[in-house]
Amino acid sequence: MNKVQTLALCLFVLSPTFANASEGDVPQYVVEDGKVDKATYNGYRRFHGTCHACHGQDALGSSIAPALVESLKTMDYETFKKTVYEGRQTTDASGAVNAMPSFAIDKNITKHLDDIYRYLSARAADALPPGRPEKIPKKKS
Ligand code: HEC
Repeated sequence: MNKVQTLALCLFVLSPTFANASEGDVPQYVVEDGKVDKATYNGYRRFHGTCHACHGQDALGSSIAPALVESLKTMDYETFKKTVYEGRQTTDASGAVNAMPSFAIDKNITKHLDDIYRYLSARAADALPPGRPEKIPKKKS
């Protein structure tokens, strides 16, 4: 096989893998008896470290930003991620600007965004009530 054929084969073999990785990897939350796994708990903490300032305690929304418990009922993971990375801005009829900042360069957010998604999707699915969740106790081995 020459170089071009080898390269073509590599691309052929690799491309479906990439496609699956971006589509299939929607982060999942775990809630058992009202208690959450470590990742979802981390999402709760991270959300209330930054996002709650605009999106409200328990993601219930505020006068300046929408209730993400509602948004996440219909918004898919890719759109969620894109919104947080790019930010968003709209101007309402009165000319007031609503601005969602971009968090693309904020590692405290990007590193934990999957966990924030886990927490918010659990809230949106009514799997988790408002307030600080308890962690699922470590299983004794
Ligand atoms: C400075 C205030 C502010 C902060 C902090 C903030 N947001 Fe936002 N966010 C907004 C505003 C305002 C909007 C609505 C923007 C619009 O009208 O287009 C919004 C919109 C969104 C949306 C789209 C909601 C929808 O229904 O379309 C998502 C998702 C979102 N924010 C997630 C987050 C996450 C996750 C964080 C924390 C990492 C965060 N936001 C932090 C102000 C903020």
